[in-house]
Amino acid sequence: MKIDSQFVHSAFSSIASRYVTANHILSLGADVLWRERAIKIISEWKPRNLLDIATGTGDLALAVKKALPEVAVQGTDFCRPMLDIAVKRGLTDVFEADAMHLPLPDACFDAATVAFGLRNMEDYEKALCEFRRILRPGGHLLVLDFSMPDGLIAKPYRLYLHHILPRIAGFLTGNSSAYDYLGESIEQFPRGDSFKRLLSRSGFSAPTALPLLCGIASIYTAQVP
Ligand SMILES: C[S@@+](CC[C@H](N)C(=O)[O-])C[C@H]1O[C@@H](n2cnc3c(N)ncnc32)[C@H](O)[C@@H]1O
Repeated sequence: MKIDSQFVHSAFSSIASRYVTANHILSLGADVLWRERAIKIISEWKPRNLLDIATGTGDLALAVKKALPEVAVQGTDFCRPMLDIAVKRGLTDVFEADAMHLPLPDACFDAATVAFGLRNMEDYEKALCEFRRILRPGGHLLVLDFSMPDGLIAKPYRLYLHHILPRIAGFLTGNSSAYDYLGESIEQFPRGDSFKRLLSRSGFSAPTALPLLCGIASIYTAQVP
């Protein structure tokens, strides 16, 4: 499946007002724990500033701001309706931009995060190279996203992802096609070692992969050499 940015943009514009609630219900609240885990990792980096890319309605950026008030947090997304909600929720420092072409100078952030966003971009490697460009040497990247689990859980999870989730999501958001696409995008998104290789190809060093909840989601980190 080729990711179509225009489809992604219009899908998120149409579900923006219901995204936060739908997200918490569909992940059974696990997304909150995953963000807490991410914040623990970020806190060890002690960044002065952080850019949350594809920030959407601002969940991760707001959680970082709350837990680490000393960090200057900015959010960016190409979907204005999602950003408008982020602003209403208290993420005031935001700008609208395509993550593949950030309107920023080189090496201006200590840390960058992208939660459930990279998977929606047309070219993962190109996007990661752009994230590396705006990070300082020694700067850190954290990617949080869904991944396909292995083992016994894989079959029931696929049933949930491809057949049950789109129906519940369609009911909650009024747009089930946005969630049909979610399953396909997760199936093709690299995970584990393959994501670590992608990070290395994109010029990052010290890639790590941390599976969460039996591998349903993963946190990846890497550093700019
Ligand atoms: C699933 S939401 C995740 C939002 C938020 N990070 C979170 O954890 O809830 C994906 C977000 O990625 C944004 N997005 C997708 N492709 C993008 C791109 N090329 N540039 C900027 N934002 C993008 C969408 O607009 C959407 O807000």
